[in-house]
Amino acid sequence: MNTKKRQVNWLHYIISLLIPIALLLNIPASLAAKTDYMLGQQKMKIPANNQATPARIALGKALFFDPRLSGSNWISCGTCHNPALGWSDGLPTGIGEGQQVLHRSTPTILNTGYNRHQFWDGRERTLEAQATGPIQAGVEMNQTMGVLIEELELIKGYKPLFEAAYPGEGISEDTIGKAIANFERTIVSDYSAPFDHWVRGKKDAISASAKRGFELFDGKARCNFCHQGHNFTDDGFHNIGLPNTDDPGRYAIAKIAILKGAFKTPTLRDIARTPPYMHNGAYATLEAVVEHYNEGGKNKSNLSPNMKKLNLSKQEKADLVSFLNTLTDKQKEFSLPILPN
Ligand code: HEC
Ligand code: HEC
Repeated sequence: MNTKKRQVNWLHYIISLLIPIALLLNIPASLAAKTDYMLGQQKMKIPANNQATPARIALGKALFFDPRLSGSNWISCGTCHNPALGWSDGLPTGIGEGQQVLHRSTPTILNTGYNRHQFWDGRERTLEAQATGPIQAGVEMNQTMGVLIEELELIKGYKPLFEAAYPGEGISEDTIGKAIANFERTIVSDYSAPFDHWVRGKKDAISASAKRGFELFDGKARCNFCHQGHNFTDDGFHNIGLPNTDDPGRYAIAKIAILKGAFKTPTLRDIARTPPYMHNGAYATLEAVVEHYNEGGKNKSNLSPNMKKLNLSKQEKADLVSFLNTLTDKQKEFSLPILPN
């Protein structure tokens, strides 16, 4: 074996051991290099009984965009998780059945297949379990599962799709959830944002300002305490001191004091495409988000100990924003499915 190759393998091995240790100890990754943010090879956990097949993905895609899944027959998952709006809705907080305003903003479903927790408060673990929640939530799609299954049985074209995807399992809450999860796992970054090209060695893929922004992100500005790895999240829950919220967040799920007002660290992939930001849509722009962190958060009660005043200069704030903008891919074409009748 070629020694150079062996050395590289060793290095890889040591780094892959150090990263989890650093994450566990919550060491800011100053040992982290930019390559820590391109662990795109990271595998998704896929349940053994729901491995991907083209038939499963196609069925899930149809269900995701089918408004007949809702009580009113006019809201689909794709109404709120709209591919034309970065798989979100462009609103501060979602709007559901009967124009009801929801309490939380609609997260993108980009890269959700990698999440260890689903929802802002992490109340579901798997996409399979998550998918049938919004269908039945009164404020979201307001549909009862029994009625939905009857309706889908009456749409002749669905039967062969379910049969091809889950032979002999029929149309059920279980197969609906499994199919949608399979489709969602196909909505992933392909690591072709300017930042990724830069990490892979294309020196002029991002501006000098964005390069300085990355150094700040990964150092002085402390963003890497929580936004880590290829998907820029630690999958953890933190109270970052947002204004105008009395939402208990993770505390409603796990009654531990530090979790009061703590929410899941969201991905920063394609971030330019999904304003407004935060679980309550508190900020309209990335500039406002950076200003929030610069002040060390606004509402200081139960603030995460990792939130500190940053004292960034005007130029440094602009650099951070330039960097964040390099995490957004070129928008790709996406074709909507033709739904069965
Ligand atoms: C009315 C708007 C609306 C509709 C319709 C809707 N969602 Fe959502 N979705 C949201 C909101 C708001 C949240 C965040 C709720 C929370 O965290 O409490 C969310 C969260 C999610 C998440 C978690 C993402 C993450 O990173 O935590 C997934 C996955 C998801 N929705 C998929 C779906 C699927 C699948 C459907 C259709 C069956 C659907 N949604 C229908 C608004 C909507
Ligand atoms: C203590 C952990 C922590 C640190 C440090 C941190 N973040 Fe966050 N970040 C979060 C959490 C948690 C949220 C979601 C908060 C919420 O909505 O309640 C978030 C949200 C965001 C969002 C909005 C994402 C969206 O989709 O709405 C952006 C952008 C962001 N952070 C960028 C940064 C930058 C830039 C820095 C460094 C200046 C930083 N973060 C530092 C944990 C952190």
